[in-house]
Amino acid sequence: MNMYEIISKTKRGIELTAEEIKLMVDGYVKKEIPDYQMSAWLMAVCFKSLTQKETLALTEAMRDSGDLVDLTGISTVTVDKHSTGGVGDKTSLIIGPVVAACGVSVPKMSGKGLGHTGGTIDKLESIPGCKTQIPFEQFIDHINKTGFSIVSQSGNLVPADKLLYALRDVTATVDSIPLICSSIMSKKLAMGADCILLDVKMGSGAFMKNTEDACSLAELMVSVGKNAGKKCMAVVTDMDIPLGKAIGNTLEVIEATEILKGNDKGRLYELCMELSAYMLVLAGKGTKDECRKLAQEAIVSGKALEVFKRSVMQQGGDTAFIDDYGMIDKATLRREVYSLSDGYIVKMDSEVIGRASLALGAGRVTKESSIDYTAGIMLEKEYGDYVKKGEKLMTLITSSDCDIEDIAGKLIETIEISENKPQERPVIIKTVG
Ligand code: URA
Repeated sequence: MNMYEIISKTKRGIELTAEEIKLMVDGYVKKEIPDYQMSAWLMAVCFKSLTQKETLALTEAMRDSGDLVDLTGISTVTVDKHSTGGVGDKTSLIIGPVVAACGVSVPKMSGKGLGHTGGTIDKLESIPGCKTQIPFEQFIDHINKTGFSIVSQSGNLVPADKLLYALRDVTATVDSIPLICSSIMSKKLAMGADCILLDVKMGSGAFMKNTEDACSLAELMVSVGKNAGKKCMAVVTDMDIPLGKAIGNTLEVIEATEILKGNDKGRLYELCMELSAYMLVLAGKGTKDECRKLAQEAIVSGKALEVFKRSVMQQGGDTAFIDDYGMIDKATLRREVYSLSDGYIVKMDSEVIGRASLALGAGRVTKESSIDYTAGIMLEKEYGDYVKKGEKLMTLITSSDCDIEDIAGKLIETIEISENKPQERPVIIKTVG
């Protein structure tokens, strides 16, 4: 294999063979290919893209670069869900228990959050005692007992992605649709679930800033998943506005618990019911309508809340917070933000809110940063609501040493209020597959 030839072919838009791609990925993991040649190839991909066939070959070569998770010890059909990351996205904490309560296992390995989007592992670890690093055999045992478990990624899973992602991060080659697709799908395929539901976020708080790119990524990921032998579908969902009312780890755990108790039926509930229904459809539980009813019943009957409780308990977490949020909601500083005028909220930008939450201490600026689990933002009003001058819009919450006044001042400047009611925004923009 000649790396110079491979770079040159991609630069000229000539399709690589699956064998060439595999040799390249294996050679890079073994350090036979230097970073400067791999960087040149990644940049060529950014300009010339890859065909579907090449993307599948890249994904499979990356998947096979390390260990594969063996889920054969799980007795029911398994469904994995992946979100491309958003602000206030706590759907995994809700739909995992809902789908498990309907008899389908949801084994999930997740990462920690970085930047303005939160990570599911951080949310779980904000529950006192809850561990996410547990031995693999225990993970399988938990799933067989409750149907749901989320743990930190362990083992030597997709080492090619770790190396390639680090290189993409410093060579301005992250935002390529085939590279994002192969990065996400190699990890999903290595995870080994029978079915995969992809939630591709679109908007200011997401990787994909417009509908066209989000739909292209969703279509490519579904085609790769299906060609790799999985039942797979995707939904493209709105991330121009934050998902739900809570942003920040503890606050999001509380909001997820409220949904599981059936106390909140807003936009987050709606998305969770749709995602759960599609996961159940993939698992062969019935038509979309039948599966949506199953998901709703799992909430109404309390079964989903019970799965959540048992799952947290199995991972060592203290579940007393379910009946007493004060146990975990212990922030030392709160700052309310009020509307400067009368009118409808027409802009409440996800990315701005995510970054404010990060500044309050809720997220990591670098992989090594520590997190203030109590920190975040509670939205009292949402996009489309009518507010009066002086009415409370949100509360900033923290226990960290940060300039809360400065954060509040910058946030208020970015919220747009108009006398005209804005158009409603559907949470699901498109389904693929
Ligand atoms: N998430 C991933 O895991 N990889 C990407 O390339 C982008 C988002």
